[in-house]
Amino acid sequence: MSGPKKRSTLRVVAALAILGPGSAMAGESTPAPSATADDAGQIAFNTHCRNCHSVKQDDHRLGPSLHGIFGAKAGQAKGYANYSGGLTPDITWDEATLDKFIADPKALASNTTMTPYPGLPDASQRKLIIDYLKAPAQKKDS
Ligand code: HEC
Repeated sequence: MSGPKKRSTLRVVAALAILGPGSAMAGESTPAPSATADDAGQIAFNTHCRNCHSVKQDDHRLGPSLHGIFGAKAGQAKGYANYSGGLTPDITWDEATLDKFIADPKALASNTTMTPYPGLPDASQRKLIIDYLKAPAQKKDS
């Protein structure tokens, strides 16, 4: 009499070892990104603003970070040292003030140093950018 046979158990273990990694990889496909209004806003922002502004918190460039700018008072970004003094807290950034400022900065704040920025005459582009600045910050922190 030989000892108990363990061959069938070993076979099951071997089969699981082979199937395991293969089945784990099967579900890994990245869904294709779809174009949304957010994307259009991001593109407009990148085109007209991103040379000087980031939307990441505390990421100041030539201009101050625009993180959470919608609803904020003007000229208050912490850690940004280059304000002209032309942007004062009696300005609150809402649809109307942002629209006017982006169209023609000096029309809103005559002393502003947001230059050399030519103004953005296209109202639909301004709207896209304003909606983009309004969107929850976590969507934009990339
Ligand atoms: C050439 C660089 C430059 C470009 C391009 C530019 N900005 Fe600015 N921005 C600045 C500077 C500099 C300031 C600070 C101005 C000041 O203190 O008077 C500023 C200030 C601002 C502020 C006020 C921030 C605050 O803390 O109150 C807003 C809002 C703003 N920019 C939005 C925009 C948007 C939106 C665009 C694109 C449509 C844009 N900027 C394009 C340089 C730029």
